Amino acid sequence: SHIKEVQFVKSSSRPRDCPKDGKPEFAVLGRSNVGKSSLINLLVRKKEFALTSKKPGKTQLINHFLVNKSWYIVDLPGYGFANAPDSARTDWSSFTKGYFLNRETLVAVLLLVDSSIPRQKIDLDCANWLGRNNIPMTFVFTKCDKVKGGKGKRPDENIKDFQEFIRENYHEPPPWIMTSSTTSLGRDELLLHMSQLRNY
Ligand code: GTP
Ligand code: MG
Repeated sequence: SHIKEVQFVKSSSRPRDCPKDGKPEFAVLGRSNVGKSSLINLLVRKKEFALTSKKPGKTQLINHFLVNKSWYIVDLPGYGFANAPDSARTDWSSFTKGYFLNRETLVAVLLLVDSSIPRQKIDLDCANWLGRNNIPMTFVFTKCDKVKGGKGKRPDENIKDFQEFIRENYHEPPPWIMTSSTTSLGRDELLLHMSQLRNY
């Protein structure tokens, strides 16, 4: 599961422009600002590889990164831009759904869930949509390093709440991993998990 080399290949504005070499790939999906680009940077151990930003809506294209010349990790636009200006919105319904439904080389979706905030309906809707369309997914909880005081719940409490909901609603709950791009928590576990899925 070791990453020796990673190269940015291309940004595609349409699903049909994505690479056609048949290599397996993982899509990184989640709410805007959940930490998709940060997670990719963590996996490849590069600070500014996939661009991160405090402003939601930074990633507007399908970005393919080739790892060890053998498999792709794909950074996708986030969904649910609550605070983004209209110009930064992506029509997730046509754009990203088209990608998921037609991408034959997709091994699994890494569905990122922000563990520093309470369970969000939009994440559950997304998981349900993927489940209904038989697209394999792994829940990757992000920002597990964050500590909440006051009324906010801690990441582990938010994760427990999210998982309880999933267990009640799924025959086979998807695998899940806790991560932090700040402390590197979950990096090795996630890489191992992805290598097992590739060789499955
Ligand atoms: P879009 O491309 O806009 O959809 O956002 P994104 O999902 O790629 O999020 P991005 O990686 O740009 O991170 C958004 C913000 O969250 C940045 O300010 C990051 O520094 C912060 N962040 C991401 N991951 C973590 C984490 O594990 N811990 C903490 N504390 N902050 C994080
Ligand atoms: Mg991003």
